[in-house]
Amino acid sequence: MAKYKIALMPGDGIGNDVMDAAQIVLDKIGLDAEYIRADIGWEFWCKEGDPLPQRTIDTLKACDCALFAAITSKPKEEAEAELIPELQGTGLIYRSPIVRLRQLFDLYVNLRPCKAFKGNPLNYRDDVDLVVFRENTQGLYAGVEFHPLPDDLRAQLEAHSPRMAAFQGVSGEDIALSARIFTRAGCQRIVRRAFEYARQFGYPTVTLVEKPNVIRETSGLMVREARKIAAEYPEIELWETNVDAMAMWLVKNPQDYGVLVSSNMFGDIVSDLAAQLVGGLGFAASGNIGDDMAVFEPTHGSAPKYAGLYKVNPTAMLLAVKLMLDWLGETATAGALEAAIAAVIAEGKVRTYDLGGDAGTLDVARAVADRL
Ligand code: NAI
Ligand code: MG
Repeated sequence: MAKYKIALMPGDGIGNDVMDAAQIVLDKIGLDAEYIRADIGWEFWCKEGDPLPQRTIDTLKACDCALFAAITSKPKEEAEAELIPELQGTGLIYRSPIVRLRQLFDLYVNLRPCKAFKGNPLNYRDDVDLVVFRENTQGLYAGVEFHPLPDDLRAQLEAHSPRMAAFQGVSGEDIALSARIFTRAGCQRIVRRAFEYARQFGYPTVTLVEKPNVIRETSGLMVREARKIAAEYPEIELWETNVDAMAMWLVKNPQDYGVLVSSNMFGDIVSDLAAQLVGGLGFAASGNIGDDMAVFEPTHGSAPKYAGLYKVNPTAMLLAVKLMLDWLGETATAGALEAAIAAVIAEGKVRTYDLGGDAGTLDVARAVADRL
């Protein structure tokens, strides 16, 4: 029996192109692993009414972790219209399979390293090395939302918060409410993972990115818990920065920061900003990590216009493989893969279109594999 069982979920569009690239590199690495292909994405929504079929969930339960490439998703009306005729009008509702995976497997960490590779012409600066920890299951993305605002809920809010007086005279029909829910345990575990990472990889600071001066209760809870946890890591400094200021600092002095930690929505925004500093979509990989399951992915989508052309940059996908190797504890192999990716970028001979080259997706994968 192989040491690891790893699910491969190529999904839609260029997801297939970049997963083929990953496969080339995985074959070269020769990890003691069994790879199991699993269905996810638009095709399965259209044919079966479910972009994350139960058989895929069962496969994932039997695996150590998964690599996911990209999926297509479309607005409600289009999603309904593309279902096979038998499924239309049956009340099926499209939900993002990746969001479902995060909730189903409690993948509460969204890890997004953003490191500038030497020689990448898309770098904003060459000395950026940021790692964003975004809380992945709670906060504004927990989905507790209302429109119209139900009368009984409104009455409770009015009874408990004098600030509701500001909305007197506005009908429930004209109010939308999205709840920002933080739990103490939820704050603790994301902050702890950020500090553990800083310790393991030698980052001197962890910056908590919130807005406690305005969003007093939720951001406030996160700050209080972070200060307690920081005390257990005396060698690492806790910096506290408001999210709006952080956006400014990341453009002004991104090289000053190391590990960043934030709640779901702020972390989402900061992650994309940080990714763009080091080359954007072709270079941004992330891990969705729980206590005993993880799903690694490039953060780009299915880029339908490039699907099957093998033109897009596979680097983000290959960096997702690197994150997976780290998580599995195969740190030497992870380091070798990162070094091979870095060498190919630095040499600059095998480049996809986004870097001004004309190499194909699989050429880049082969160039990386050749250096392993
Ligand atoms: P996208 O990320 O698929 O592509 C936007 C543009 O970025 C592409 O047209 C291409 O020019 C460039 N790009 C993306 N990946 C690249 C790569 N590896 N190398 C070079 N260039 C690359 O975003 P878009 O067009 O907004 O969405 C397309 C579909 O993907 C939609 O259905 C959307 O819902 C879905 N999507 C899925 C995500 C996921 O699977 N996690 C994330 C984002 C979007
Ligand atoms: Mg995002």
